[in-house]
Amino acid sequence: MQSTKFKARTVLVTGAASGIGAKIAEHFGLLGATVAIVDLNNVVLEAKKNELLAKGINALAYCADISNYESCKKAYDYFYNEIGFIDTLINNAGISPKHDGKPYKIWDLPPEEWNTVVNVNLNGTFNFIRILVPEMINNKFGKIINTSSVAAHAFLPIVSCHYSATKAAITGLTRHLAGELGPFNINVNAVAPGRIETPMVTAVGEEVNSTFITDTPLGRLGTPQEVADVIEFLASDQSHFVTGQVIDVSGGWLMR
Ligand SMILES: NC(=O)c1ccc[n+]([C@@H]2O[C@H](COP(=O)([O-])OP(=O)(O)OC[C@H]3O[C@@H](n4cnc5c(N)ncnc54)[C@H](O)[C@@H]3O)[C@@H](O)[C@H]2O)c1
Repeated sequence: MQSTKFKARTVLVTGAASGIGAKIAEHFGLLGATVAIVDLNNVVLEAKKNELLAKGINALAYCADISNYESCKKAYDYFYNEIGFIDTLINNAGISPKHDGKPYKIWDLPPEEWNTVVNVNLNGTFNFIRILVPEMINNKFGKIINTSSVAAHAFLPIVSCHYSATKAAITGLTRHLAGELGPFNINVNAVAPGRIETPMVTAVGEEVNSTFITDTPLGRLGTPQEVADVIEFLASDQSHFVTGQVIDVSGGWLMR
């Protein structure tokens, strides 16, 4: 159902070709926002853009690697040329490499994989913030929503240490920037999803996910829509006085 709640808003979503990001883009589009979507996978990204356009959503797409500053800058220049000021940034793209469905323990972890995950998850979160913030400051308005994980706050044996470390760093980045950018009326918050049903999660065995379900008070995996709903709140007029927060969307798997 189309709505006009975000009609005046422009929202950039990274990692929007698949999983949670794809749902976020569609959700904001259906709320009337202009959505600028970014992903590394050009074929799936273009298909997603066409799907959004077919639903009457004002969508633009640019294939970029979030770990590469120049690539992000090119994406931004394209979007800025087409739609001008982008008031909302949803840093969603992230990776959690597995090998035969399993993470590496630290004693097996190749340093190159550590670097890749830091580059994508952490540097990739920094890059678009660095690029978008000057215009947010000029406009005295902005909403930045980053994507952490429950792995930032508890031991999760199904991921490697690079994933937990980068997701914890994202919470530090979120809080620091909330302090720096508050005076410019820019809110910086994060979501920390628990186990959400996406390709990242179905890549590991069913046994792993059923253990998770057992440990989750709500007794099931979450859906991308349920993450998008919390992000909607953080991007909306209803959360103008909320900043520097990390909101768990985990069905109670983690309570803190
Ligand atoms: N699914 C979960 O249970 C879960 C739990 C906690 C946190 N998260 C986080 O939520 C976010 C989305 O997860 P998901 O499950 O939808 O993942 P996903 O793998 O389904 O989708 C991630 C998307 O990001 C894109 N991407 C990857 N590297 C990129 C890069 N360098 N540049 C641009 N795009 C890139 C991929 O092509 C893909 O379309 C991630 O940050 C993830 O860490 C997910």
